[in-house]
Amino acid sequence: MTDSAMIDQFGRRVEYLRISVTDKCNLRCVYCMPMEGLPWLKREELLSYEEIAQIVGTMTDMGLRRVRITGGEPLVRKDLPDLVSMISKVPEIEDLSLSTNAVLLAEKADALRNAGIQRLNVSLDSLRADRVDSIARRPGSYPKIMEGLDAAAAAGFAPIKINVVLIRGQNEDEIEDFAEITRERPWHVRFIEMMPTGANLDLSANQFISCTEALRRIERIESIEPVQGPFGNGPARYYQFKGAPGTIGVITPMSHNYCDRCNRMRLTADGQLRPCLFGATQTNLRDPLRAGEDLVPHIQETLKIKPERHQLIQGSDLGSGGLIALSQTGG
Ligand code: 5AD
Ligand code: SF4
Repeated sequence: MTDSAMIDQFGRRVEYLRISVTDKCNLRCVYCMPMEGLPWLKREELLSYEEIAQIVGTMTDMGLRRVRITGGEPLVRKDLPDLVSMISKVPEIEDLSLSTNAVLLAEKADALRNAGIQRLNVSLDSLRADRVDSIARRPGSYPKIMEGLDAAAAAGFAPIKINVVLIRGQNEDEIEDFAEITRERPWHVRFIEMMPTGANLDLSANQFISCTEALRRIERIESIEPVQGPFGNGPARYYQFKGAPGTIGVITPMSHNYCDRCNRMRLTADGQLRPCLFGATQTNLRDPLRAGEDLVPHIQETLKIKPERHQLIQGSDLGSGGLIALSQTGG
């Protein structure tokens, strides 16, 4: 047991790791992945589940308490429930969650729940089938996503968070519909401001909508009250219509920075530990792990270089540190 809690030079305690298990995805969301995909990682570059579990074990000794599994799309990786079981057996991990586009969720919800996933975040940018087709660019996804969401509720996942990336001209007229759905379902709908990456520079510059604008539109329906929001440790701020079972959240990487509260690091599918979603800084954990080295100094080194804040600039990929898409780091 190492007694070194993971505290960075700005006093932020890191207890949360987002683990990307694949860079691949079965969708091609316009703000994320180019139609032709990306240069995928090779099989031998990917961490095995055993290797991921080893890294989690080391970080747990250093104070890790919460884990989220992400991608790309994590459900496209084979036998994901095996990894979930391995992580959920670690007693110190108090919270294990998954981010998914839900296309494959209907068939996997029960297995994931039984293996130990407690909470789900689902990406869903429109409530209309034709729009999901044009945003996610894999026709026929909408009914599968809806089946996935029903299966998730039936399997007992709670809370369910829905991530909506705001895109002017493509889903801005559904802001009200997404808000209204929180009166019908116990969903926590979170609007996300689009972040610039190499693959979406035009879109993120020209079709950006701030969450302030989304909240203004919702306030026109009826006033919303700030609330605590569901369990989770993210940067979202939450609001609620009086008496609604769900909540409305906003995630504002562009208009309001929340880096001072950052509690996380990211592990990419090829074993790079990233102290920040953006920026070029990362530490290779895979090669030292495969060479049988102690990972603790590498992790401490990464904490030391965790930047104070991200430097995203609209219309530029400089701030993203050369990232082409968020699918490369797990979002
Ligand atoms: N800007 C904002 N959100 C994004 N996501 C993926 N790419 C971007 C981007 N460029 C979202 C996905 C998913 C979450 C993990 O990140 O829609 O909900
Ligand atoms: Fe796939 Fe998620 Fe990227 Fe959409 S946002 S292409 S679902 S990784």
